[in-house]
Amino acid sequence: MTETNRSFQDTLSLNVNGKDYSVSVKRYDTLSRVLREELGLTGVKRGCDYGGCGACTVSIDGKAIYSCMYPVQHATEKRILTVEGLAQEKLVGLEALSEIQRSFLENGGLQCGYCTAGIMMSTKCLLDENLSPDLVQVQEALAGNICRCTGYGRIIESVFAAAKQIREKSQSK
Ligand code: FES
Ligand code: FES
Repeated sequence: MTETNRSFQDTLSLNVNGKDYSVSVKRYDTLSRVLREELGLTGVKRGCDYGGCGACTVSIDGKAIYSCMYPVQHATEKRILTVEGLAQEKLVGLEALSEIQRSFLENGGLQCGYCTAGIMMSTKCLLDENLSPDLVQVQEALAGNICRCTGYGRIIESVFAAAKQIREKSQSK
């Protein structure tokens, strides 16, 4: 008898934001569905759901990936980071925000905010590799993230401000 996607269930281990989870998935599940609906990580936005907008961007082993196009079965034994994982767990309120989150807030890097989590995850992947990017490198890193509110100037300023804050923090240690 052929198994349908509806009847197929599997249990996978996922490492998300530094924690291990055991999740029940269907054969063709995407990572974005599992993150949102099984783990409640709704900072992972669903925009187009076909790889065209970047709202669902997460970091997988340090690379910015569209989670709506990523089969969850491929995500085991990888380090997945969502926007929820950017904040510092032991702090609360504005104190908990990472430099990237704080920079977007302080520099007006968001309007409606729908694209923001995905853009911050692309920023995170960029700055983890290159803390002094030039304009072209920032534009290339964000090329897969569409902002319908079109505030790209402020978004790019926010990325540079975040890089500066992170550099200053690492120099003060
Ligand atoms: S929701 Fe994944 S790219 Fe648009
Ligand atoms: S801030 Fe509205 S879509 Fe980007």
